Amino acid sequence: MKWHLSAVTALISATPSLAAGTGPYDAAHSTDITLPRHTIYMPRNPPANESLPVLIWGNGACSANGTLFGNLLTNIASHGFIAIASGRPNGRGRTTVDYMKDALDWIERRAGAGGTRGKYATVDASRVAVAGQSCGGLEAYQMRDDPRVQYLGIFNSGFLDVPGFLGGLLGIPGEGPETIEEVDLPVFYFLGGEEDIAYPNGMADYAALSGVPKWVGNFPVGHMGTYAKPEGGEFGVAAVNWLKWVLKKDTSQAEWFTGGGAEAAGWEEVASEGLDGLLTF
Ligand SMILES: *[C@@H]1O[C@H](CO)[C@@H](O)[C@H](O)[C@H]1NC(C)=O
Ligand SMILES: *[C@@H]1O[C@H](CO)[C@@H](O)[C@H](O)[C@H]1NC(C)=O
Repeated sequence: MKWHLSAVTALISATPSLAAGTGPYDAAHSTDITLPRHTIYMPRNPPANESLPVLIWGNGACSANGTLFGNLLTNIASHGFIAIASGRPNGRGRTTVDYMKDALDWIERRAGAGGTRGKYATVDASRVAVAGQSCGGLEAYQMRDDPRVQYLGIFNSGFLDVPGFLGGLLGIPGEGPETIEEVDLPVFYFLGGEEDIAYPNGMADYAALSGVPKWVGNFPVGHMGTYAKPEGGEFGVAAVNWLKWVLKKDTSQAEWFTGGGAEAAGWEEVASEGLDGLLTF
């Protein structure tokens, strides 16, 4: 057999993306013609021995670039999750919370065994977390009343005291700090320390959130976190630990959040409340 040059080139250029993510499953992103405005991250070969819980993700700046947080989301998927980001790969423009609703409606229809839905046969759409960074975190908050959503992850974000009309102009969900009173889901806050422009907002939300399990930690690198690092860096590690705990019921992760693991990894101003009830909430 004679190798054609283009085949060799394709082989070489495909190599760096192999075995992506720190988890047991090589993960990648794709698109689906039936969900045209999103990017879907999952194991290339979904394992038969475990189901894939769902993360719905909103990008920083409410960007419609579904690969903006590709390092983080590929890593998460490699641990046996399906993560659906708002926006197509390299998409342009802005998103709204409607993207998250669409993603959740879609995966609910596609999850489960049977028929030609093979690719998503092992997705478990009964286990759902919604998260986002910065403006994407505000979108995540907007999903708080959807009964399908069990956990919220707020990355470098917090409710903003922006007048409605200005929020509209800036494309920011116009919900003020008092909105925290309407949140009755467990929330984990992953902030970037005092240099993070969202630090006061996120810390205030954490303090004001009541009656639900909650955690906050600051990795002191500012608003942009470590998402551009391979596998999403320290925020990637934290996000995976969080999702394994809440969506895969891996209680050994509690140690990282409440037993000094986060501090040992460089996280500061770590606090939590009510996490004993996290899985039964
Ligand atoms: C499923 O199998 C993979 C590899 O074969 C393993 O790494 C993983 O821990 C298994 N998952 C469960 C839930 O047993
Ligand atoms: C989307 O995000 C990726 C990762 O940051 C970046 O490489 C790419 O240029 C972005 N695409 C657009 C259209 O901005």
